[in-house]
Amino acid sequence: MISRNVKSIEISGIRKFFNKVTQFPEAVSLTLGQPDFNVPEKIKSAMIEAIEKNKTGYTSNAGIEELRNEISRYLEGFNISYGSDEICITIGGSEALLSTFAALLNPEDKVLIPNPAYPAYESCVKLLGAQVINYDLKQDFSIDFNNLQNLIDEQKPKLMVLSYPSNPTGAVLTEKDRNKLFELLKDKNIIVISDEIYSALCYEEKYYSIAQCKDIKSKIILVSGFSKMFSMTGLRLGYVCADKKIIDQIIKVHQYNVSCAPSIVQWGAHEGLRNCLEDVEKMKNEFIERRDYVYNRLISMGMESNLPKGAFYIFPSIKKFNLDSEKFCERLLREAKVAAVPGSAFGIGGEGYIRISYSYDIKTLKEALDRMEKWVNEDF
Ligand SMILES: Cc1ncc(COP(=O)(O)O)c(C=O)c1O
Repeated sequence: MISRNVKSIEISGIRKFFNKVTQFPEAVSLTLGQPDFNVPEKIKSAMIEAIEKNKTGYTSNAGIEELRNEISRYLEGFNISYGSDEICITIGGSEALLSTFAALLNPEDKVLIPNPAYPAYESCVKLLGAQVINYDLKQDFSIDFNNLQNLIDEQKPKLMVLSYPSNPTGAVLTEKDRNKLFELLKDKNIIVISDEIYSALCYEEKYYSIAQCKDIKSKIILVSGFSKMFSMTGLRLGYVCADKKIIDQIIKVHQYNVSCAPSIVQWGAHEGLRNCLEDVEKMKNEFIERRDYVYNRLISMGMESNLPKGAFYIFPSIKKFNLDSEKFCERLLREAKVAAVPGSAFGIGGEGYIRISYSYDIKTLKEALDRMEKWVNEDF
């Protein structure tokens, strides 16, 4: 009765584990990918005003021109150039991803996906009957260029997903790797989907993106959104940017799926880009403090970890404990009453790691890390 493609995918490992956590009400959970800040006040007011002014009808399929213009201006600040007619406002980054894959993939097409990575990429590709090929990341979760080049040459994939700043690893794209990627991609027949939903939460001085390489603009599709940037995960707003020829095809899929993104939220994000970037800066600074705190605590309890450079996750190694990540998290939950996500939820490359989200206040983080430290010291 159910489609073969749908049967080939499962609900996300993150959700599965989250459901387990609800059976332990006394546990401190560090599992969610959702900032704990309120939506900036000006965004709330703009949405209320939009309701009061009855801006509640369908918008154009691509989204209101005013917001697309603001996105265009905002991206220009990162040296990324897309005109308002090259942008489609979507229902979160999630819809941006699925609409993009659906517009481009035929069954059997091959898609390169980093491993470990946000699980939706693999599921979207399988849902469309296309084929996933994982590419390796190095110890610091940067791209292994030898492996990538070989896979492109041998497998001839149609698409490649880039995902920086990364969920789950917190790694970002460096200037050197951006330039290497450009050199690699410029002569290849491949399209890159660059998911940059955490770009506003990059802790490095400068932000690097493959979308800055204007000579290969026709091969790049940028996916982003406001869920993390404005702490508005439940309001469901994202966007996708691409060359006109591609975006027009993505808009067709988006049109038949959802018609348009919610009008009221579009006005909220419009206000956010105009007047709330200081709020984003404050959030970012708070995340940097939490990142430093969690990193130092993990290192001092002997949990090896890379210092995250963006997003709000840290991905420590648990290899020395000789437990797979599912078992480790299960025991951490039952015995120490702390919930973290098994690295295996992000693909085979995530085995041997756990994902800790630091989108929680310092008090919660301290309690969780105290419990974890005691457990690690006593039980291993
Ligand atoms: C890397 C990445 N891309 C996309 C999304 C989807 O974002 P949204 O909630 O806007 O659909 C997420 C959400 O966690 C994510 O981590």
